[in-house]
Amino acid sequence: MARDPLDSIQQALRRVPQQRQRRLSTFRPGPDATLLPGDGETGPAQGPLLDLASNDYLGLSAHPSLKAAAMAVIQSEGVGSGGSRLVSGTRPCHVSLEAALAQWLGRERVLLFPSGFQANLAAVLALADRHSEVIADRLIHHSLLVGIQASGARLRRFRHNDLSDLRRLLERGARSEPDRRRLVVSESLFSMEGTSPDLAGIAAACQEFGALLLLDEAHALGLLGPGGRGLAWGLAGVSLVSGTFGKAFGAGGAFLAADDPVGEWLLQSSGAFRYTTALAPPLAATAEAALEQLQADPGQGEALLRRARRWRDGLEAAGWRRPPGEGPILPLHVGDNALALHLQGHLEQAGLLGVAIRPPTVPAGTARLRLVLRRDLPHGSLDRLLHALAAWPHAPAP
Ligand SMILES: Cc1ncc(COP(=O)(O)O)c(C=O)c1O
Repeated sequence: MARDPLDSIQQALRRVPQQRQRRLSTFRPGPDATLLPGDGETGPAQGPLLDLASNDYLGLSAHPSLKAAAMAVIQSEGVGSGGSRLVSGTRPCHVSLEAALAQWLGRERVLLFPSGFQANLAAVLALADRHSEVIADRLIHHSLLVGIQASGARLRRFRHNDLSDLRRLLERGARSEPDRRRLVVSESLFSMEGTSPDLAGIAAACQEFGALLLLDEAHALGLLGPGGRGLAWGLAGVSLVSGTFGKAFGAGGAFLAADDPVGEWLLQSSGAFRYTTALAPPLAATAEAALEQLQADPGQGEALLRRARRWRDGLEAAGWRRPPGEGPILPLHVGDNALALHLQGHLEQAGLLGVAIRPPTVPAGTARLRLVLRRDLPHGSLDRLLHALAAWPHAPAP
């Protein structure tokens, strides 16, 4: 009898260490947010919890104008687009969102995608192939890495946000293989670190050594750069920008923005754009309503950054290592996986939701609690957090 083909999967499953096993937990958002029992768990829901975990940085996901935009387009067009963009799926809401984003970002071309993960695959595959060399920050998002692997390009990594290491790799490549296409990949705001690169330095290096530059602005849009337009805004040398509506835009879906010829090349070549159902109209309409909110109140990102500074000051004064960067992502490093989970549980008991992030999402030995500051958190949230952290038995001495 033939071997059961599931055997090898069972074996692989058994090799996942206990510490790395994942469970889905269900979170019902809102002012009385609750954490429902996860799969395989029993017991009561925990709540209300203060959400210090979601990436809805500007609190737009529940904004009345976003809800109204989604409902209006559902009434007029239905929920799904029913086709891919190049067949029958392009709707007026797609065209108008792409035009509005292109204008906002000062780019010639914007193309929408159903998710940021997919947009990142498309971005790398448009700019690199098996003859290329990709030089990427060591901590780029998994979707970018998967894209690089799928492209067949040779991958070189530079130390996180280390411009001189990047320049060293670019220089070496330009000297030894001047004709090879090079693509540099980085992010504006690293989702697990809270850090940002010296983007002007990276863009200048790419121009100097003739490399393309792909920048993932998933966590930066709405917050960083003038009016929340991201770090690439107005900067020469950035070939392609990737953004998602799943974070500060409070919706879902994503886009790539570029000037021609890269924008036109994407349209002509991208299978990830062509062979997928067009972004659901309610999400496109919601993203456009979010963009209108950002344009109507362009200071909201900066206001959040000011608040983030106060949170960093407070955490530092309480004895924690100051979370790096400037944005609303505030990782509390504890190192050990079990300790990170313990801290998550401790905060839940205190009515706070902050999630432990462990390897392989972050490098081994760097488990952390990823805290996220949002614009709609009530006053007093920082005090509640500091109070709960101080009562944790493993908290550092102030
Ligand atoms: C840096 C980064 N890029 C891309 C993505 C993917 O975006 P999306 O959630 O829209 O698939 C994420 C989110 O998980 C992210 O953190």
